[in-house]
Amino acid sequence: MTSKNIETTLIGAGRGKRYTQGSVNPVTQRASSLVFESVAAKKHATAQRAHGELFYGRRGTLTHFALQDAMVELEGGAGCVLYPCGAAAVSNAILSFVGAGDHLLMTGSVYEPTQDFCSHILGRMNVTTTYFDPLIGAGIAELIQPNTRVVFLESPGSITMEVQDIPAMVQAIRAVAPEVVIMIDNTWAAGVLFKALDFDIDISIQAGTKYIIGHSDYMLGTAVANRRCWEQLREYSYLMGQMVDADTAYMASRGLRTLGVRLKQHERGSLEVANWLATRPEVAVINHPALPGCKGHEFYRRDFSGCNGLFSFVLKERLNEAQLADYLDNFSHFSMAYSWGGYESLILANQPEELEAIRPAGGVDFSGTLVRLHIGLENVEDLIADLAAGFDRIANAR
Ligand SMILES: Cc1ncc(COP(=O)(O)O)c(C=O)c1O
Repeated sequence: MTSKNIETTLIGAGRGKRYTQGSVNPVTQRASSLVFESVAAKKHATAQRAHGELFYGRRGTLTHFALQDAMVELEGGAGCVLYPCGAAAVSNAILSFVGAGDHLLMTGSVYEPTQDFCSHILGRMNVTTTYFDPLIGAGIAELIQPNTRVVFLESPGSITMEVQDIPAMVQAIRAVAPEVVIMIDNTWAAGVLFKALDFDIDISIQAGTKYIIGHSDYMLGTAVANRRCWEQLREYSYLMGQMVDADTAYMASRGLRTLGVRLKQHERGSLEVANWLATRPEVAVINHPALPGCKGHEFYRRDFSGCNGLFSFVLKERLNEAQLADYLDNFSHFSMAYSWGGYESLILANQPEELEAIRPAGGVDFSGTLVRLHIGLENVEDLIADLAAGFDRIANAR
């Protein structure tokens, strides 16, 4: 049952009687073949195959429909396509709307594999990509070319966390090129902290792998589209063979039930840790969207309803290799891993030149080592003590 309160929507979304069949959760319906009882039933299912009728496993089962309905309840829009991971959602959403000779505008602080997709796959198809400074605002309109088909946003940006002025950008794009498809990698917001479709964005993409799944054990991509883009996204993704297994879809629906409380706890923890870091002499900048030092903080305050556990900070010092290894190898509660959004705390570090290499626009303006944290659901005092010990290790290694 939809409510104006997200906590309530998360509990009821996608739990209609057709999906739950008397249990609390949607049934897990694993199927490739779906059996028709008559010629008439087969004809009906074929005609309605894109509209929630059971047709063939690749179009989904009740388990998939439950998750898709839930995502639409959460994010708005006309429908949701499921993908085997976030990267598949990104690439298939773009491929559904570009063809040879087209042009794409891509934010400069985008997730690195998204850039690699543009250069390695789109480049081969003669689709050109122009990267823009994530803080470009309304100036993005000047980059639109006659063949621009897609503008791709990600806010906050990966690792450096720049928050974009999305209303100004969308308004400027629509004024010069109303047909352009605007997409966002909305993973950081988990589809709920920033309601992309309410900002006239056409497609909201998520690596459901992160907060929706929430336990670092399944991979999933989602793309929720508005009415204008839904049919093309759905049919082209289908033609490219995109689907996820029923067990993953089930686990994603289950993850939604606790998403609200998990996000609140991640938010509380990350704010406490970020505010503590702000008192530390070793720290030059904190890239936490909810803190004033973060680029685009004012847009975060205006457009987002909250934050999560993922942010970064920059040390005054550039750690040498030995210091960095000693720092990262010896945490008690922070593990090193590329993903995030699970219940556990994580840490990664990048040298400025490593980031410079993956920032085609909106360059790197710092010289110290950058540390990215994901604050999990552990006790925050324990996490702060662990981070304090990390600073001691750096000092002792001098
Ligand atoms: C912002 C963002 N988008 C997309 C992805 C890709 O998701 P997946 O690993 O599920 O393919 C990630 C993964 O780290 C990510 O951080």
